[in-house]
Amino acid sequence: MSHSEIDSLLEGQQAYYRARAGEYDDWWERRGRFDRGPVHRRAWVEEIGQLVAELDSFAPTGDVLELAAGTGNWTRQLARHADRITAVDGSPETLEINRRKSRGTGEIDYVVADLFNWEPSRRFDVVMLGFWLTHVPDERLDEFWALIERALAPDGRVFILDSAHPDLATKEAGARYDVHYESAAAAHGTLDGESHRAIRSLGDGREFQIVKRFWRPGEFIADTTRRGWRFEAEETDRFFFTAHGFHA
Ligand SMILES: C[S@@+](CC[C@H](N)C(=O)[O-])C[C@H]1O[C@@H](n2cnc3c(N)ncnc32)[C@H](O)[C@@H]1O
Repeated sequence: MSHSEIDSLLEGQQAYYRARAGEYDDWWERRGRFDRGPVHRRAWVEEIGQLVAELDSFAPTGDVLELAAGTGNWTRQLARHADRITAVDGSPETLEINRRKSRGTGEIDYVVADLFNWEPSRRFDVVMLGFWLTHVPDERLDEFWALIERALAPDGRVFILDSAHPDLATKEAGARYDVHYESAAAAHGTLDGESHRAIRSLGDGREFQIVKRFWRPGEFIADTTRRGWRFEAEETDRFFFTAHGFHA
């Protein structure tokens, strides 16, 4: 794909999240068209609890930068540890929801910016990425990791949460638990695993093409080690990928 084709894909991805702002939490809360029933909800909530516990044991203290902060589901969790949070997102609509939900939780600076054209003005103790890594195309990974390195103080640390590879959510865990699992398409939109693209639709039927580039822990560790990072990465039973590390 040419540079300008990637640019327009990323513009479309940003437009998708702006249009989706008011619906985003339906996915996170498993409401409406994302309601997969009580068995699924129990497992989802339990695994979110595991993510919160991991974040707590990582302890994102000090001056924290949250990239693609969205509607604030993680901003509030970060606020329990951080002295100060800078929450960056390309969608003013999602940050408005974030501001409302995070009110009174801590000192939070909101920045509306395109992360593919943004430069941090200082260095942070922690950089947190919630459900953002899988939206970065391979063609922009060098630039993405260089940005994170520039944003981190010398002893700075990174914490990453994201969707697990759909193989995990559908096949392996489905067999393990013997309950009905949503298909990868239901979970992530129509996926093209080869090209790392997905077609996502909104409640009103509008469709957008976005990047969805899943990582398994082994591949992630190999890629980031090659770039000079030291990460530990793992998956929850079905839904999520987590990693934390630092630049060596
Ligand atoms: C999957 S959501 C994750 C939101 C939040 N971190 C969470 O875990 O709930 C992805 C976020 O990336 C933002 N985004 C998409 N493209 C962006 C870009 N080019 N620059 C900055 N933010 C962008 C969207 O507005 C959206 O809030």
